[in-house]
Amino acid sequence: MTGEALDPGMGRRSFINWFLGTSAGAFLVSVLYPAARYLIPPPAGESAAGTITLPLKPEDVKSNTGQIFKFGNRPAILIRTPAGELRAFSAVCTHLNCTVQYRADLSHIWCACHNGHYDLNGKNIAGPPPRPLDPYVVNVRGSQIVVGKSA
Ligand code: FES
Repeated sequence: MTGEALDPGMGRRSFINWFLGTSAGAFLVSVLYPAARYLIPPPAGESAAGTITLPLKPEDVKSNTGQIFKFGNRPAILIRTPAGELRAFSAVCTHLNCTVQYRADLSHIWCACHNGHYDLNGKNIAGPPPRPLDPYVVNVRGSQIVVGKSA
């Protein structure tokens, strides 16, 4: 008799415990999964040799443009010079680590943080950056652009 009287209450408590347990579990998964994904990035085409194949075709990169890509866990910039050459550099400004960008109006690389300027060879030419951008090697293999660290 008393067992039957307790069952509905136990059922409710069990349901509440189950509900709170699954909600907390779902919450933890929703918080921890993205954090884990962030902390353990996928290889993204980067080989052990320190090269990356970009998801771009050479013909898609127009002259006098630049675009940022991720090289390892740091930003890099691929540019096509007005003369049509593909070049790549670290996009981390050598002043205070802002991400640089390509300025088509100036035809060179620029850092918006403190108005730092770099030429098409990555050399610091104006503003506070103390040294050139680290250069990368660009190879076009068929329809692929492969960027690697310089030797
Ligand atoms: S961080 Fe680039 S100019 Fe200061």
